[in-house]
Amino acid sequence: MAAGAPRSNRGRAAGAPRDATTPSSEAPTRLPSHVAVIMDGNGRWARQRGLPRLAGHRAGTEALRRLIEACVEFGVPRLTIYAFSTENWKRPAHEVRGLMFLLEEVIERQLSELDRNGVRLRHIGWLENVPHHLRRAIQRAVARTETNTRLELNVAFNYGGRQEIVRAVRRIVEDGIPPDEIDEACLERHLETAGLPDPDLVIRTSGEMRLSNFLLWQVAYAEIYCTPTLWPDFDREELLRALHSYAARDRRFGELEVDEGTPHDDGETGDASTVPVSRAR
Ligand code: FPP
Repeated sequence: MAAGAPRSNRGRAAGAPRDATTPSSEAPTRLPSHVAVIMDGNGRWARQRGLPRLAGHRAGTEALRRLIEACVEFGVPRLTIYAFSTENWKRPAHEVRGLMFLLEEVIERQLSELDRNGVRLRHIGWLENVPHHLRRAIQRAVARTETNTRLELNVAFNYGGRQEIVRAVRRIVEDGIPPDEIDEACLERHLETAGLPDPDLVIRTSGEMRLSNFLLWQVAYAEIYCTPTLWPDFDREELLRALHSYAARDRRFGELEVDEGTPHDDGETGDASTVPVSRAR
């Protein structure tokens, strides 16, 4: 969604249940056009089973496969996953190496199936510090799936939201763009996600309720869904719960409810009523 042009998405879709804990087995009619997922809880999942953390990450790759399949099945057109943050470099070296290895393995093992299912891969983040062979694998996967249109899968790998904004500002300065031409659209063109609509729904697993430096600019008006489920246990039913919860939300983008736009009972309209809708936050 272009900044400054809030899309109206109000009211509940017909048939969407209010109780998000008991979803029907079908997706609601009003789907998010872009879902972003913070896949958290692999380490705890492994610890609960007396397994090494990497076993949790490996189980997480299965949950990721299920998520992609379910998005294709339900017709969610865009999915962004937070696979490795710029802060994750601070983890022990063997875990960092393991995560790099897992991504390469996922690409090698699943690329043909992803391609067959019409999934287009895109990388969000920076490849500078990424091992050469993984960089090549990512670039190959992106090139091979370039023309697919069923699901756009954005893999945020070596990505951080604050760094993304800093890099965008640097590029704007390097490009010599004059200050009066710098607006939200200009900044968006310089982000890693240029051309991608903002996420409508952010899902975070494992009971944590943080954004953890994920798509900070882009989630300004996203709906957030948190579940205590640990990432490796996330499945189709969990996605359905999140989608039904989203369908039941009333997205106002800073506007008022239609029947709230009338003067207060005391007759005072207030100055805020004169603020243009797109700027009222
Ligand atoms: C957070 O769980 C998860 C990650 C840092 C990595 C996410 C990776 C996957 C889901 C596996 C797929 C991997 C790739 C690279 C495609 P955590 O380790 O912070 O869990 P914890 O909070 O329970 O310790």
